[in-house]
Amino acid sequence: MPAQRRHEIARTATTCGVKIIEDDPYWLLADDAPPPVARFAPEQVTYISTLSKCLSPGLRTAFVLLPDAQSRERFLVGLRAFALMTTPLTTALATQWIHDGSAIQLLAGVQAEARARQELTRQILESTLHFSGGGVHVWLALPSYWTSQELARTARAEGLAVTSSDAFYIGPKPPNAIRISLGGIRDRTRLAAALRKLSLLLTRKPSVHRDIVI
Ligand SMILES: Cc1ncc(COP(=O)(O)O)c(C=O)c1O
Repeated sequence: MPAQRRHEIARTATTCGVKIIEDDPYWLLADDAPPPVARFAPEQVTYISTLSKCLSPGLRTAFVLLPDAQSRERFLVGLRAFALMTTPLTTALATQWIHDGSAIQLLAGVQAEARARQELTRQILESTLHFSGGGVHVWLALPSYWTSQELARTARAEGLAVTSSDAFYIGPKPPNAIRISLGGIRDRTRLAAALRKLSLLLTRKPSVHRDIVI
């Protein structure tokens, strides 16, 4: 989201007294992300940043920045109600990693891997299609003969998991695009093979189904 839009949201929330929960798992992986909305309207925003994407999902740990003391009390009551507390051992480990510099080193490793995967994706897909990427995801605009849902369905039948844009879109007409996650697959060789398979699939036209309702 561009900085201008974040400013507008922060201004509207402040003017109308609306509270925002900003769920921001990817900020540290995006090369040139503008500051979070919480920076523009700290008194309106509860900012949540999981370590799952930028360090490791195994930590099951997130940090929460609360707007004020009253919110802190309410948040702790809510947390106790559904989880009693966070797991002390992993919270201690995450905190130690942040203090002793291990977290920065791990983050640099994740960022380097994400960049390498973005570059690999660019080499395989750019010649055929328009795509934009950042962090561990790319967005791929589809040729008009594929709808995003049909492509996602056909890809799944061929062992490829991609997500249709409507999963992320509020509104009547989502862009005809899919999101590809580059992070889930274990190694780059398998990622390259999957991207090549997807590239071939995209050059094919969808098969015509003649569904009969009796
Ligand atoms: C937008 C967003 N927020 C939060 C999470 C969850 O993070 P955690 O692993 O800490 O539950 C995810 C995980 O996919 C996510 O995509």
